[in-house]
Amino acid sequence: MNYQFGGKVALVTGASGGIGRATALGFAASGAAVVVSDVNDAGGEETVALITASGGTAVYQRCNVAEGAEVKALVARAVSEFGRLDFAHNNAGINNMGANEYEDEVWDRSVAINLSGVMYCMREEAEVMLAQGKGAIVNTASINGLVGNGAQPGYTATKHGVIGLTRHGALRWAKAGIRVNAVCPGVIETPMTAPLASNPDMRKVLDSLTPMGRMGQAEEIASAVLWLCSDQASFVTGHPLVVDGGATAT
Ligand code: NAI
Repeated sequence: MNYQFGGKVALVTGASGGIGRATALGFAASGAAVVVSDVNDAGGEETVALITASGGTAVYQRCNVAEGAEVKALVARAVSEFGRLDFAHNNAGINNMGANEYEDEVWDRSVAINLSGVMYCMREEAEVMLAQGKGAIVNTASINGLVGNGAQPGYTATKHGVIGLTRHGALRWAKAGIRVNAVCPGVIETPMTAPLASNPDMRKVLDSLTPMGRMGQAEEIASAVLWLCSDQASFVTGHPLVVDGGATAT
């Protein structure tokens, strides 16, 4: 997944591991300077170290996406550090696996991080991209943004909301040169799914959830994100791109 992103600047939230790290590494390998962000500082710094060790350019900025002021500071850092912002992958999210999302606190946290976080990011990123006249935003939704999940009202509702925000942004900024798309991963092997996947019996169940018979890899999502950001996708906006090994084909 090597694109010609030399001179471009990318921002990735939730980039201390998993899908966000894979995307940050992909942007860097394609020549973009990357602003790596997360609330897990050690993981975020490790992503930066991986990028710089392979000759790329990256900085880390801590940002809790549920706090609008922190998101504003994050986008400002991209501009103060590298002068512009071309690509944004709004990827930070939580799953609340095993918790009861009908409890107020759990529900509120889901909405704050998974949904409000994406809105704050889009709002700030678009300001910079509007001034440039060009930009591409990709939000991480989920297949649970397209089909229901009977166990998780918060995850299902917020991921559906991410797709709604994506469609809104695509329409709002279509004539301004900003494309806004979403990626909808199926079951992917990342730190989020590790607590389940590390149990061999559960791993078999997770593999069997996908028609391809395996969990996806973070790089397979990153590949879709990079394509959506690239000029190869110049007429694609408002699209929730499913990358799920066939899980929603049934
Ligand atoms: P992950 O847990 O490695 O990544 C999520 C990242 O978000 C973590 O680095 C975490 O520290 C960060 N984060 C959590 N709360 C935050 C906050 N308030 N502010 C900033 N960062 C915060 O797991 P993964 O799988 O890489 O998840 C990335 C995205 O992909 C999430 O939005 C998730 O919902 C989505 N997704 C994952 C799937 C999977 O099977 N792994 C399937 C569908 C969607």
